[in-house]
Amino acid sequence: MSKENVKKRIDELRRLIEYHNYRYYVLDSPEISDSEYDSLMRELMRLEEENPEFIVPDSPTQRVGAPPLDFFPPFVHKVPMLSIDNAMSGDELTAFHQRVVKWLGKEDISYCCEPKFDGLAVEIVYENGLFVRGGTRGDGYTGEDVSANLRTVKSIPLRLITQNPPELLEVRGEIIMYKDAFEDLNRERSRMQEPLFANPRNAAAGSLRQLDSRITASRSLAFFTYGVSDPASVGLSSQYEILMRLRGYGFRVNPDVRLIRGMDEVMKFCLSMQEKRETLPFEIDGVVVKVDSTIDQDFLGVKARSPRWAVAYKFPPNQATTTLRTIEVQVGRTGVLTPVAKLDPVKVGGVTVSRATLHNAEEIRRKDIREGDTVIVQRAGDVIPEIVAPVVSKRTGREKEFDMPKTCPVCGSPIIQDTGREDGEKGVMFRCVNISCPAVVKEQIRHFASKDALSIDGLGKKIIDKLVDRGLVRDASDIYTLTRDELMEIEGFGELSSSNLLRSIQESKKTTLSRFLYGLGIPHVGEVTAKDLAEHFGSLERIMNAQLEEIDSIKGIGKEMSRAIHGFFANESNRNVIKKLLENGVEISAPKPREVPETPIKGKRFCFTGTLQSMTRSEAAKKVEEKGGEAVSTVSSHLDYLVAGEEPGSKLEKARSLGIPVLSEKEFLEMIKGS
Ligand code: IVH
Repeated sequence: MSKENVKKRIDELRRLIEYHNYRYYVLDSPEISDSEYDSLMRELMRLEEENPEFIVPDSPTQRVGAPPLDFFPPFVHKVPMLSIDNAMSGDELTAFHQRVVKWLGKEDISYCCEPKFDGLAVEIVYENGLFVRGGTRGDGYTGEDVSANLRTVKSIPLRLITQNPPELLEVRGEIIMYKDAFEDLNRERSRMQEPLFANPRNAAAGSLRQLDSRITASRSLAFFTYGVSDPASVGLSSQYEILMRLRGYGFRVNPDVRLIRGMDEVMKFCLSMQEKRETLPFEIDGVVVKVDSTIDQDFLGVKARSPRWAVAYKFPPNQATTTLRTIEVQVGRTGVLTPVAKLDPVKVGGVTVSRATLHNAEEIRRKDIREGDTVIVQRAGDVIPEIVAPVVSKRTGREKEFDMPKTCPVCGSPIIQDTGREDGEKGVMFRCVNISCPAVVKEQIRHFASKDALSIDGLGKKIIDKLVDRGLVRDASDIYTLTRDELMEIEGFGELSSSNLLRSIQESKKTTLSRFLYGLGIPHVGEVTAKDLAEHFGSLERIMNAQLEEIDSIKGIGKEMSRAIHGFFANESNRNVIKKLLENGVEISAPKPREVPETPIKGKRFCFTGTLQSMTRSEAAKKVEEKGGEAVSTVSSHLDYLVAGEEPGSKLEKARSLGIPVLSEKEFLEMIKGS
């Protein structure tokens, strides 16, 4: 292909991919399958790789993240990003309207009413229709330049859909995380024993403010626009029309925005959104009411930090006080213990509440919540009620502080505390690490069957739930004893689906050590660590019997992780499940042997113990050095071979415990000869 044709094809692919991104991420209505999309993307990546001179920052390939930064450069807002005054009640909303009426000298006012996103405000700059940079709100005047991260958000167009784009367009809006993406992320973090995000807003902010944009790219963020910095840039004088124009440019605009005349109708809208709030896929915490005419907006102007033409009607928090009787501990699907408060029943926002989640022990300590306390209960955006704070003035002195149990309330296994992360901060999670714990089983099975683990096609969440609920599967090993009759009894299962599932279960039996290790769902052990472990130990048996210090000595495996791995294999139930898996036919093929060295000696570390017959130890050491090896005097996990002569010392025992190969003098001599 000529360079010219390559360039043409690249342009065409970019347009196609951006169009399908738009269908998928903005309109929620894809036109092609994932695999068709992937093949377009692969072709573009290949062409760009072969012709790097054609790579541009707004290519869809650049959405995967860029090399990490040391810090975020400042991002100056040409027009300050103001905040909005709150209206906490209908009366305050009416007062806002009356001020507007007075200033404008007219009664008939149209308002653009928009649900108020609970996310993170950003500004994105387009020059001649192309994404050039974007930044956070910061203090309203200067934020952080998070361009590389914003580029990874697929609902942000890199190129506006228009023939004649404005020279300069500064789009404003909110980065949010959908509720289900938030739950998925926290579930994964819980599995990896990482601290959870408190709510979707924190998760969105934490994901956007990553110096490594590849992390941002891995999180499901979305962008909704709610305006521009300067209405003149789009030549329109109605906020509502501006939003419709932005929608045409390819942005997501909240489908619930309404242009409404008069305060009565605005109030009705606010109340209807308040009702609808819990059914929405993302969180909102109010309604922003904006004078629609930008001419009127200019006339009204701004006060110190907020405009006179907008107000945020905040949904009232649904709160009540009651007595906290006891704190019970629940075992979640991932084995994490969650304290739950049992309350004297109380009505909050029209719903009777008798229990509230306390999230974790850390939160109980931070809020200083005790059994017997009078507490303030709140129902926030989500349906799960939470405890805001104790009413300390009502304490009698008989309240009891809470301690996490030492054993799992469901299966009695010891509880492991996440004792810390790399940064030394105390973890807040307590977990039952017994993979047979009924509360943990479903999630474990899901993980075990997932693509990168045993890869059992057709064994999805719904089926797993049913299998576990019916008691057919109590741990991963039971998957391999399922019969056609048992499957046929499950609702939705017929001849074909049963035999398909049985076939993929059968096929999954042949697996590799690293997949198997990953599938066990050991805390902290992701795919990479599983590979490292498989390569280091070479067999399941050796890993299961490894000493803590050997696991700890593997490169890339830290203290926390090695303790988790060691603890996992020390657990009797875990060992039992592994045994049953093997008995039921799971076959682990040995990992690929490590590259054979040029000579068996070169680059290897030898240590000697006991008396050698044919030479002294120092002569032997010299021979090793001559052949490019290294002779060392102590046994550690870095040793490759221990050569044991007659009457070997304690080194022999140590080498055995570390699983280091031990050579006899004869074997050693043969090795030397052979190299
Ligand atoms: S308009 C002058 N519209 O609320 C008006 N803001 O204090 C500027 N927000 O953090 C903002 N949804 O990010 C506007 N539909 C919406 C909004 C919205 C959420 C956030 C905004 C800022 C805060 C305003």
